[in-house]
This record gives sequence, structure tokens and C-alpha cells, in this order.
Amino acid sequence: MHDILTGDDKMKCCILMGSPRKNGNTAALLKMFIEELELYQVEYDLIWLYDKQIESCVACRACQKDWTIFGCRYHDDAQQIFDKINACDVIILATPIYSWYCTPPMKALMDRLVYGMNKYYGDEKGPSLWAGKQVAIITTCGYKPEKGADLFEEGIKRYCKHSQLKYIGILAERDLGYKSKFITEDKIERAKTFAKQLIDICTINENIKAD
Ligand SMILES: Cc1cc2nc3c(=O)[nH]c(=O)nc-3n(C[C@H](O)[C@H](O)[C@H](O)COP(=O)(O)O)c2cc1C
Repeated sequence: MHDILTGDDKMKCCILMGSPRKNGNTAALLKMFIEELELYQVEYDLIWLYDKQIESCVACRACQKDWTIFGCRYHDDAQQIFDKINACDVIILATPIYSWYCTPPMKALMDRLVYGMNKYYGDEKGPSLWAGKQVAIITTCGYKPEKGADLFEEGIKRYCKHSQLKYIGILAERDLGYKSKFITEDKIERAKTFAKQLIDICTINENIKAD
């Protein structure tokens, strides 16, 4: 199944990393996931959102005037991220859970994209510029995932439906506190399995699109 992803059909991932901790839990989990992507030669961009300047959306609706471009009034790093997302097939939202949702730079980016990518808010309803792209979540949280990551997952499912994106799944792992070692053999295994599952799902979806 995996060798379909070669040549021009190669799946491209854009990983939006929302943890402020370069050596933290989410980074450790993501590293295992990325190792598996590399094994299958999946192309990816890794963007550390805390290193970027991402202003908050102020609902000015400048982005709604031209339906062919991002069109935001801010000239910060969101335009470059928009371009990377445009060029990818799969968006990975990697974030620790903060107050039952993603971290602030990821939320700011999501607000900018939900307007800039979806031309729904002008005088007439326009297109979604990222329709059909696939979205997955990699997250870590202090509570059990079903109580820590459930609201974020539900929010992303609705965000995807609204934006005509395809939600394809979540990897959520628990952090038992600063005194315990986060990464374990079980978590490594699940991160690698998750990567393989995503590659399979994306391959199937790409084949359906091509038929
Ligand atoms: C400011 C802050 C808020 C947090 N809020 C939550 C929360 O709402 N629910 C939860 O389950 N864990 C919460 N946590 C725990 C983190 O999600 C968890 O420790 C995570 O593994 C940290 O990942 P990192 O090492 O990549 O930063 C919070 C941690 C911080 C620092």
C-alpha cells in the first residue's frame, strides 16, 4: 500500500507545531511520528508556530474581497504558512492541550485561516480555497485524552466540516506530570502506527479523487 506514494503522487504534509517546548512532550511524540514519515519518504514541512509572528484576526474582512488569494491585511508570517498549506495534501495540527484547546498561536492561525481560506463572509458566498485537504491531530494533555483532548477534537471536526476539509483522525497521549517520563515504548509504537494509518488513509483518498 505504501509504495503508491512515490513520484508525482507523493503525499505532502504540513505540520503545524503549537508547542512552545522544543524538547517537550508533544515534540517527543511528533519526533516518532516524523521518523515514520521519513521511513516512507513522505515529504513534510514542519512549522514551529511560537517562532512565527501570527497576528490575531480582527474580522476586518479584507480577505473576502478577492476570492483567489489569502488577502489578509497583515503582512506577517501567516501568508507564508498559507502558501505551505496550499501546497500540501495533509495538515497535521500538533499541539499540547492548554485550557481544553490548542495553544494561542495555533488558535490565532486557525482564525486567520478560517476567514482567509473560506471566502464565505463577503456580500456573496465564495469558495473554500482549501476544500478537500485532509487534517489530523497529534496532541498531548494532562487529563486522560477522552477528558483532555475531546473538546479540541470536536472543535476541529466542526472546523473541518465548515471549511470543506477532511478530518482523518487523532493521536492523543497523556502526560502524567513533570516527574514522570513522558515517552514510553507504547507511545512510540502508537505514534508510528498512527503515521502508517494516515499514509494508508491518504493514499486511499488520493486514489478515490483520481478515479
Ligand atoms: C498553561 C497550561 C494549560 C494546560 N491545560 C490543560 C488542559 O486544559 N487539559 C489537560 O488535559 N492538560 C492541560 N495541560 C497539560 C499539558 O497539555 C501537558 O502537560 C502537555 O503534555 C504539555 O505538552 P508540551 O510538553 O508539548 O508543552 C496544560 C498545561 C499548561 C502548561
